Amino acid sequence: MKAVVYVKKAHPDKLVFCDVDKPVPGENEVLIRVHAVSLNAADYRSMRMGLIPKRRIFGADVAGKVEAAGKNIKEFRVGDEVVGDLAACGFGGLAGYTTAPEKFLIHKPGQVSYEEAAALPMAGVTALQALRDKGSAGKGQKALVIGSSGGVGTFAVQLAKYFGCEVTGVCSTKNVQQTLSLGADHVIDYTRERFLQTDHRYDIILAINGNYPLSACRKILNPKGNYVMVGGSLSQVFKSILFGWLLSIGSKKIRFLSAKPNKTDLEFIMGLLEKRIISPVIDRQYPLERTAEAMNYLIKGHSAGKVIINIQEP
Ligand SMILES: NC(=O)c1ccc[n+]([C@@H]2O[C@H](COP(=O)([O-])OP(=O)(O)OC[C@H]3O[C@@H](n4cnc5c(N)ncnc54)[C@H](OP(=O)(O)O)[C@@H]3O)[C@@H](O)[C@H]2O)c1
Repeated sequence: MKAVVYVKKAHPDKLVFCDVDKPVPGENEVLIRVHAVSLNAADYRSMRMGLIPKRRIFGADVAGKVEAAGKNIKEFRVGDEVVGDLAACGFGGLAGYTTAPEKFLIHKPGQVSYEEAAALPMAGVTALQALRDKGSAGKGQKALVIGSSGGVGTFAVQLAKYFGCEVTGVCSTKNVQQTLSLGADHVIDYTRERFLQTDHRYDIILAINGNYPLSACRKILNPKGNYVMVGGSLSQVFKSILFGWLLSIGSKKIRFLSAKPNKTDLEFIMGLLEKRIISPVIDRQYPLERTAEAMNYLIKGHSAGKVIINIQEP
């Protein structure tokens, strides 16, 4: 089968399109014929940290069809359409076929395309866990989504609206209309406005992208408000882990999210997608052989939504 394999010595991108053996599912696994994969920061960050999957194939968010099932598989049959986040079980999506234990998979509804389904798992579940579990999002709360136009941010804006929040998105000029079209009540163009120097106050701040001082963010948080560090620059992530507890003394809380793949959460947001309450924003699609180019685009940090890899195995 065709796959994109991580090869440390391959310059410049380390991602090589080549032929490899088709994987064989274990007794507790299904074999998936992969149709679409979405790329995530987790792919390139793991690569940079030397956290290379056993089969040296990245790609966590997978949508495809069950081709074979191990003897202990109960929930899925050959021919079922499935989707899941395989980051916790060895990645492996950037290939014609991959294997996964059933606990990481859910059924893909028929009316949701493979591309839309693949866009959902990691980014959607991250946005959900940030808002619901760390942000305690609820009706009437004012939410500031910093980085509203990326993979996680586009879901965060829509989910915050779903939870009844008044949403302000932060992005650059080219994405202002996109953030508004996702339902945001207000948008701040960070290239034109110093949005941390403001009299506005927020109940939830989701720090998804960029590098903005924690102390300044804390200032614009309401008493009992929650600042949730999701991502952005690594220095900002480390600062929130190191100093978050200190800045959380008092009623304002600085929280760090470490999102976990969760079948129930994925089913929940898939239900919202099926009802078209939320929609994935797909920025670009690439064929498998152009994965390195797609990854380089994502790494630049300005994709407007999700980047998808389409896989057509004969
Ligand atoms: N904590 C967790 O468990 C967890 C889970 C998943 C992801 N993450 C992290 O979350 C972060 C976002 O992931 P993602 O998939 O959304 O990334 P992404 O799709 O690559 O984000 C790209 C977006 O970031 C925006 N952006 C860039 N610089 C910005 C700035 N200075 N201010 C505001 N927005 C800015 C860009 O908007 P413009 O082009 O308009 O600038 C672009 O639309 C990553 O750091 C990732 O590692 C964390």
